[in-house]
Amino acid sequence: MQTRKVTPAIGAEVEGVDLSQPLTDAAADGLYRALLQHQVIFLRGADISPQAHLALAESFGELDGPHPLYPHVEGFERIVKLENDSGAPPDTNCWHTDLTFKPVQPFASILIAREVPEVGGDTMWSSCYAAYDRLPEGMKADLEGLEAIHDMGDFRNSFGHSPEALNDGMARFGHMIRPLIGTHPVTGRKFLNFNEAFVVHINGMGTSEANALKVWLTNHMNKPEDQMRWRWQKGDLAMWDNRCTMHYAVADYLPSYRCMNRITVVKDRREGQRLKEVS
Ligand code: OGA
Ligand code: MN
Repeated sequence: MQTRKVTPAIGAEVEGVDLSQPLTDAAADGLYRALLQHQVIFLRGADISPQAHLALAESFGELDGPHPLYPHVEGFERIVKLENDSGAPPDTNCWHTDLTFKPVQPFASILIAREVPEVGGDTMWSSCYAAYDRLPEGMKADLEGLEAIHDMGDFRNSFGHSPEALNDGMARFGHMIRPLIGTHPVTGRKFLNFNEAFVVHINGMGTSEANALKVWLTNHMNKPEDQMRWRWQKGDLAMWDNRCTMHYAVADYLPSYRCMNRITVVKDRREGQRLKEVS
């Protein structure tokens, strides 16, 4: 297995792993270590079947249940089918970490490109480790101990047709409180645990003070130095560590069609291990 970095801060392309064959334990461990080290890994043209996609995801841990809003691949209720064109414009073109408002934030997602536009439809990822490392020392000290309140953010749009629907949606998805400075459970590295999509307030602050800090953090976390951009080809596979990254699906390809398959791994099977050498 070889890895080639995409940028110094984040991302690596992995070669020499055949995902169409059952994965050996050594290969699964190798992919996991590459993921933990580079935060997002890519297998160009892997083009694996839904069965192999599922087997790969299961080798990393427990899977998320069927998605409450999105459709799934026929016969595979755990594979979300993300399908967009002008009739269904994408809604993931904002910097976000998946589902941070849930009590258990998913560990990882595995995305496969099934149909890509001729040009556009790239996905970007950013490193929340790098964003933490770049904080001025005084700011690190100020943020330590603060907590952010997360909720479903602009998913509200799906419930905005009536106050009853909105209240039901809020009751269903709820809130989560997370430290603003996170510590990765496996690498032990600190990261900036903030994403503009789902953080609605900073616990204990007044609204205008919280808003000012949110804008500061949003700007701080929007630096190309922390980011990478993947230009998809049909069949490419990406896997990201959803605990220490954000991503942004660039919505520049309409009216063309784009179709991705995604499986979310909720729990990291190897979380008890401490991989010091990748931290
Ligand atoms: C996601 C997502 C990225 C993409 O699957 O969580 O944001 O490029 N999608 O489709
Ligand atoms: Mn997402």
